[in-house]
Amino acid sequence: MLLRHCLFLASAALVRALPRHALLARVIDSKVAAETAYDFVIAGGGTAGLTVADRLTENPNVKVLVIEYGPFDNGEDYVLVPGAFFPVPYMWLTLLSTPQSALNDQVYGVTCARVVGGGSTINAMFFHRGSAGEYNSWEALGAEGWTWDGLLPYFKKSETFHAPDADLAEQWNVTYDASVHGSTGPIQVSYPPYDYPGSERFWNAAVRMGFPTVQDPNAGQAIGIFRLLHSVDPATQTRSYSRRAHYDRVKVRSNYHIFPNTAVAKVIFQGTTATGVEFIDLATKVKSIAKATKEVIVAAGAVHTPQILQLSGVGRKTDLQALGIRTVSDLPGVGSNLQDHLVLTVNYNFTNNLFPNGGSLNANQTYDAEQRALYDAGQPSAYTITRTTGNLILFLSLQNDPSPQKSLPSGTAQQVLKGYIAQRKQILKLLKAGNSIGDISWNTGPATSVYMTRPLSRGSVKLGSTDPLADPLGDFGAITDPADLEFLLAIYKKNRELMKTPEIAPLGPIELGEAAGLIRS
Ligand SMILES: Cc1cc2nc3c(=O)[nH]c(=O)nc-3n(C[C@H](O)[C@H](O)[C@H](O)COP(=O)(O)OP(=O)(O)OC[C@H]3O[C@@H](n4cnc5c(N)ncnc54)[C@H](O)[C@@H]3O)c2cc1C
Ligand SMILES: *[C@@H]1O[C@H](CO)[C@@H](O)[C@H](O)[C@H]1NC(C)=O
Ligand SMILES: *[C@@H]1O[C@H](CO)[C@@H](O)[C@H](O)[C@H]1NC(C)=O
Ligand SMILES: *[C@@H]1O[C@H](CO)[C@@H](O)[C@H](O)[C@H]1NC(C)=O
Repeated sequence: MLLRHCLFLASAALVRALPRHALLARVIDSKVAAETAYDFVIAGGGTAGLTVADRLTENPNVKVLVIEYGPFDNGEDYVLVPGAFFPVPYMWLTLLSTPQSALNDQVYGVTCARVVGGGSTINAMFFHRGSAGEYNSWEALGAEGWTWDGLLPYFKKSETFHAPDADLAEQWNVTYDASVHGSTGPIQVSYPPYDYPGSERFWNAAVRMGFPTVQDPNAGQAIGIFRLLHSVDPATQTRSYSRRAHYDRVKVRSNYHIFPNTAVAKVIFQGTTATGVEFIDLATKVKSIAKATKEVIVAAGAVHTPQILQLSGVGRKTDLQALGIRTVSDLPGVGSNLQDHLVLTVNYNFTNNLFPNGGSLNANQTYDAEQRALYDAGQPSAYTITRTTGNLILFLSLQNDPSPQKSLPSGTAQQVLKGYIAQRKQILKLLKAGNSIGDISWNTGPATSVYMTRPLSRGSVKLGSTDPLADPLGDFGAITDPADLEFLLAIYKKNRELMKTPEIAPLGPIELGEAAGLIRS
């Protein structure tokens, strides 16, 4: 996947007059950190880390330090301009999965962010909530208050929703429910003002296949076809993300400190109380300590949070003992039950496609230059769409109950098994009630994507060594539950059906079997 994205970077080098990030004045040095009595120290300045830091420091008496492994971005086009997407340099490029036992032992890249702003700096900018039932299942599993009704006020608080202009909405079938959206939050969300003619074919093909159209997919139910909302500021048509919205916007606060290019090595405990963190300056490799009088918040993402916890002695005792790490808390759930969605890219040779389409920016330099010029002039342009994706998505539900399978690795702790069985029961209930099992997206160019967003298979994140700078061992456990293969196949077949509809068949799609690949995200 990285290779594919590197190709896109070539055109991202074009220069454009954009508001660049100011150089950061407040890089705190280790001495300041060591001498400051922080209330909260946050490990990981990603999507969640910066949001929490912003909200905590609204109170000027609360002192917060954020420690982030990656650098600040420099406002590069590939970060800010949707049509110049993909920010390869801001990812953990060396991080690979373990060989996937159900996929001929192939190794895959683990795509995740290493930059201030985390995933919000590098993601595809789809701004899409789960369904009400999905959040309600969190509460059913014990997360009290994390229901749809409990979360909706916070979803609204996070965003400023920009309704599409009426002509655009009419032309592209954009519908929405303003009552589920916020109007004063820090993240700007909008619909791209441009689309390819092929997306109308996708829309009508889905309707022909019997799928509903969704009035507002962020209102708690999203089965069927709809236009995706994007975390893009419509005033500049640039990415809206936690670095801009939850750091730059408030960096005048003297109680909000941040360390970029710095690794949290571990959480320091007195007994079982976290009192601070040990961190490493990645330029000098010097280790220091920052103290937290109230809380240490570990927000290093799904892969690195369990790494930090295990390095700190929080994890399965036998695993920690094997590496000579003193156990603070024997919690076998840490680093277990990893779930991540897969995507199968199925490419077609459209021998008779409409022009322009989602592949035209890459295939036609004249078109690319023309669209870039329109974008720079503030006009509707293909550069307002995330380069590798389309504007429409089709969410599918599962009508049949899959055969129950126990698919965790042998030797899994009882505690983890019990949690997984409870979780699986909720998932199957959701699937039965018609919630999404996966989705299909076609960018109107060669690429269609078959997503399987609710795997039953489970992986893990374990330590390979005690070196905090070494990558952890991420095992997706992809397709280890045989039911997942059936789901994936079923969604894949729906994609073929879509290609055979009278809307799309005239475009002459020929499936390119050899180009298909299974990747994450
Ligand atoms: C390629 C890609 C595309 C995506 N597309 C979308 C999309 O279109 N829409 C959507 O909603 N979601 C998307 N996502 C998912 C979304 O970005 C994530 O779910 C979200 O960012 C997770 O937030 P987080 O705060 O938990 O972790 P992250 O945002 O990943 O933040 C974790 C941070 O911790 C840092 N860190 C890790 N280890 C350490 C350490 N030892 N010390 C200090 N810091 C550390 C990391 O560098 C990172 O910046 C995408 C993700 C990827 C990778
Ligand atoms: C919008 O919906 C109408 C009615 O379903 C359909 O005829 C039309 O082609 C759609 N347009 C687009 C751009 O999807
Ligand atoms: C696509 O199909 C056409 C017509 O069969 C063929 O000439 C062309 O080489 C194909 N291209 C690819 C990339 O397979
Ligand atoms: C390439 O793009 C230009 C500008 O939009 C267009 O006029 C031309 O027809 C395109 N060429 C092909 C082969 O699609």
